[in-house]
Amino acid sequence: MKTVKIGLLGLGTVGGGVYKLIERQKSEMVSKTGADVEIAKILVHNRNKKREGIDESLLTDQWKDIIEDKEIDIVVEVMGGIEPAKTIITEALKAGKNVVTANKDLLAVCGEDLLEIAAAHHVDLMFEAAVAGGIPIMRPLRQCLAGNEITEVTGIVNGTTNYILTKMFELGMSFEEALAKATELGYAEADPTADIEGLDAGRKVAIMATSAFHSKVVFDDVHIEGITKITAQDIKYAKEFDSVIKLIGIARNTESGIEACVYPMLLSSEHPLASVRNSFNAVFVHGDAVDDVMFYGRGAGEFPTASAVMGDIIDVIRDMVNGCTGRISNTCYRELPVKKCRD
Ligand code: NAP
Ligand code: HSE
Repeated sequence: MKTVKIGLLGLGTVGGGVYKLIERQKSEMVSKTGADVEIAKILVHNRNKKREGIDESLLTDQWKDIIEDKEIDIVVEVMGGIEPAKTIITEALKAGKNVVTANKDLLAVCGEDLLEIAAAHHVDLMFEAAVAGGIPIMRPLRQCLAGNEITEVTGIVNGTTNYILTKMFELGMSFEEALAKATELGYAEADPTADIEGLDAGRKVAIMATSAFHSKVVFDDVHIEGITKITAQDIKYAKEFDSVIKLIGIARNTESGIEACVYPMLLSSEHPLASVRNSFNAVFVHGDAVDDVMFYGRGAGEFPTASAVMGDIIDVIRDMVNGCTGRISNTCYRELPVKKCRD
């Protein structure tokens, strides 16, 4: 029986969740995949940090220890940021290692280039956790709904801002207090500016649009407004109109081109997205064959995100066992014009 070895890059909120989930799922792996699994090495920034319940002999602060380890089959990147993540992922793919990542910052700027490298080296590059935390949305867009002409992907795709808006609306919390709580709960990015200015949601819109419309959409194509200008007064007015304010991401494939944008919207309390509270996300998809589909669940946090990462790890191991890695990295794109929502 093969033991698949994992190199984990990052042991923060998501990496910690992945570590615990692999421990929890260990005895089930053979029946789920046909192989055993083990974490062989873990890359961290600060090896001296106190980390409870972690086998410290696995820690390294040198990423080459992982890439140059020929026994490591899968690299799980949950460290975030563009560099050194981009270099490490590129080197891992070129070394024939499969990669699972939750890194939307990176995917929104060069995801398709990385997929091309993966395809050229017949390895998997999986990224379910990069969009909407625990909600399965990338696999549906790339696989289950591939038989559709998808014309719209719309929803709440940032847990931090949805948590802040919910707490301001329901409890009268201040923006700052709600953001501090979201950070404490592990929902916010390392730099929460990315959440509150709508950049994180914009990255997710670009990633979803690329898969949904089968055409490259990058972060710079997305028109973005965050929630930093929302005041207690705005919340009061929304209540008077029996409405709520939500940060909505929209990607549409129209006759004149692809529109991609993120901005706060006033939604009637009857609207299906109005009842999506706290860190929950929801994504609505319209396809010509399936009609309307909606996905709902926890959009951020340790275990919901680790759930998505673990699903990818399990899929990669199944591909490895069946000798078919690289199966879904291979993607060709059509060229559609991209226009900004408010052009
Ligand atoms: P985090 O808590 O800040 O953890 C980052 C981890 O990566 C830490 O263990 C850190 O090491 C390590 N790290 C960072 N830069 C490094 C470097 N240059 N060299 C070595 N190690 C480095 O971040 P997170 O919230 O887990 O997020 C990780 C990734 O998942 C990001 O791409 C994020 O966007 C994505 N994501 C997060 C969530 C969520 O709910 N948090 C959900 C979906 C996707 P130290 O421990 O030594 O500091
Ligand atoms: N900071 C992100 C959010 C994490 O709040 O949605 C999940 O991608």
